Amino acid sequence: MQTAYRAIRVALLGAGSVGANVARLMIENKQELAQRVGAEFEIAGILVRDAHQVRPGVPSELFTTDAEGLILSADIVIELIGGIHPAKEYVELALNSGADVITANKALIAAHGPQLFDLAEQLGAQLYYEAAVAGAIPIIRPLRESLAGDKVNRVMGIVNGTTNFILDRMESTGADFDEALAEATKLGYAEADPTADIEGYDAASKAAILASLAFHSEVPVEKVHREGITSVTALQMETARDAGYAVKLLAICERVDDGLVARVHPTLIPLDHPLAAVRGAYNAVFVEAESAGRLMFYGAGAGGPQTASAILGDLVSAAKRHLAGGPGLADSVHANLEALPVQRIQTRYQITLQVSDEPGVLASIASVFAEHGVSVETVSQSSATTGAALLTVMTHRASEQALEQVVSSLRSKNSVQQISSVIRVEGM
Ligand code: NDP
Ligand code: HSE
Repeated sequence: MQTAYRAIRVALLGAGSVGANVARLMIENKQELAQRVGAEFEIAGILVRDAHQVRPGVPSELFTTDAEGLILSADIVIELIGGIHPAKEYVELALNSGADVITANKALIAAHGPQLFDLAEQLGAQLYYEAAVAGAIPIIRPLRESLAGDKVNRVMGIVNGTTNFILDRMESTGADFDEALAEATKLGYAEADPTADIEGYDAASKAAILASLAFHSEVPVEKVHREGITSVTALQMETARDAGYAVKLLAICERVDDGLVARVHPTLIPLDHPLAAVRGAYNAVFVEAESAGRLMFYGAGAGGPQTASAILGDLVSAAKRHLAGGPGLADSVHANLEALPVQRIQTRYQITLQVSDEPGVLASIASVFAEHGVSVETVSQSSATTGAALLTVMTHRASEQALEQVVSSLRSKNSVQQISSVIRVEGM
């Protein structure tokens, strides 16, 4: 094939699960990629910590520990080392040298995205990050480009495969959280330190990125309300299923009157909602836009080859831009909506509580909801221990603030032995 341009030099930072697959695919598909782009790629080198370690399918002569030398020799830099430091410094060095940068690093984009986008724009470079949210699933480009002319009102996503796997196992086998986590670890879904996944930090980073794009506003990750799944119980799963719901860890980004709210927490969704059908370690993002209506993006949210696919898509875009030239474009944040606290949302709630099984208790519980203006949709009762009943109350839409007051009042009642669960309920 005749190529019109000199080879495009690509620096790969990292040769782990994703990096090694990117290198392998770039080598295996070299000719095909060159035809698509109009120029060949040349891997300038691959940054690792241990250059002597053998990584099957990746030529060891490409390994280097000289970050600066490698970055400054490249037209495009792909950052796949993860974490904030030194990834941030390497990305800045690359942008400052005029290179375009591709990253899968959601922690970095969520924490420092605006600053890095500004830097790229000033320098006429571009920062690509399709793989940072939901792995192989195209969701950044659809939000940034395809839906750029529409008004997105809400984005709800299952954006962490590890926690979806754990919740799915709890639901399908009746396992408790610790058993399901142990299985996720054994199968390689959960890392040795699963904190980022099970405490919702990973999903919160992705929620900040999705909310920024969907609502054209800066959303600091610290403004994302975050609850993990460690307190989800087998009883909660069973109660949810009996009421026709699944428990999912959702990242929810939505407009409220004068701003936006981004939150990550265990959520009940009706079994007939498309997100309820997302099983195992899969991811999905459900977008509600004013004209486009409801859209669902589904697929593998992680995995070396799967994530490498998204990186290669960005690589082809970056290479075409490199050849054509043009300014660096930052994501638009013109709407400047404020990221508001979770107390500003309105949603439905399911509250499960153990109460004394005595005359008048149900009426007094109902009166607490009424006092705070929270309307009850359904109440079901089953026996708990002797002399105690388990009540499951489903509310109509109510404000988070009012619900917090209800829970606080319930806790102070002598007839309430225990509040077993309070969980938000979402739907279409
Ligand atoms: P790995 O831990 O498997 O690989 C990290 C690589 O980076 C290793 O090759 C390591 O070198 C190298 N590295 C780490 N720190 C340094 C450093 N300070 N200097 C030089 N090299 C360094 O990570 P993954 O491939 O799993 O993830 C990469 C990125 O992709 C992360 O940001 C992650 O969040 C993101 N991502 C990952 C997904 C996945 O499924 N794995 C899915 C979506 C996103 P060495 O080999 O010598 O240790
Ligand atoms: N730990 C993440 C997950 C990997 O479980 O989905 C992809 O970001």
